[in-house]
Amino acid sequence: MRNLFGLALALTLVLPLRAEEAREFGLSAAPEIVASGLLDYILPRFALKTARRVQLADSGADARLGPDDGTGQPVMARGGVTYAVTLDSGNPAAKVFADWLGSEIGQTAIRAFQPENGPPFESAAVEAAAPQVTITGNAELGRKVAEIHCARCHRVSADSRGIGIGSTPSFPAMKALPDWAERFGRFYALNPHPAFLRVDGLSPPFDPMLPPPIVPVTLSLDEVEAVQAYAAGLTAADLGGEIVNR
Ligand code: HEC
Repeated sequence: MRNLFGLALALTLVLPLRAEEAREFGLSAAPEIVASGLLDYILPRFALKTARRVQLADSGADARLGPDDGTGQPVMARGGVTYAVTLDSGNPAAKVFADWLGSEIGQTAIRAFQPENGPPFESAAVEAAAPQVTITGNAELGRKVAEIHCARCHRVSADSRGIGIGSTPSFPAMKALPDWAERFGRFYALNPHPAFLRVDGLSPPFDPMLPPPIVPVTLSLDEVEAVQAYAAGLTAADLGGEIVNR
């Protein structure tokens, strides 16, 4: 009786894990890539969007991210070194990852990452040569998110809605910058935002010692992409040739 119960318990515990196993793969990466912090930035985004999970391994993994040795698909470059992703097994989740890295969305994530030390990574994927960004969010949802959560500080449209705080860049002004889409893809990691805003699954938890007047906001990645889509529909402010410092 006791054994039977134990078996039933073991089965219920094991079955769900089995189902997830196919969605998981092992990845090894060159030490300088790990040290840069890039993986901490892109892997949660990949996992959130594709529901695939990555296990970092030192070697013997399903996929390798390292200096291009001609065996894989080049995906990025830094400091004159091109890095490629190489698939060493038939794991389908690893294939999803390689495809994602080469896609415009993966390439945008790679470029949006700002390392604490050293230069950012550049695109190396052939398809991503053009600085285009695929916008997948829902612009109408994005307008609401912007009005509720951003208009407190930013002017979020050219009309009077959301006056914003004078020194805070307006959305139409930011839209005029060539890399506006990347800025809207990573703002939550840049000050002052982490003090009051986090993205579910991407940002670390709030500091429990947060000063009480700050009401923290948690957005989903879908909401972040929605704001990006909303910004895509804005007319860029005419900056009159002024030099815009960020
Ligand atoms: C409490 C005020 C405040 C709120 C609320 C706020 N921001 Fe900001 N944001 C700022 C300030 C201030 C800057 C300029 C920071 C700087 O220049 O260092 C900024 C900068 C930005 C930038 C430019 C980042 C870059 O790459 O330079 C983007 C994009 C942005 N915010 C998006 C948003 C979005 C989207 C929301 C709503 C979900 C939002 N912000 C909510 C204060 C705020």
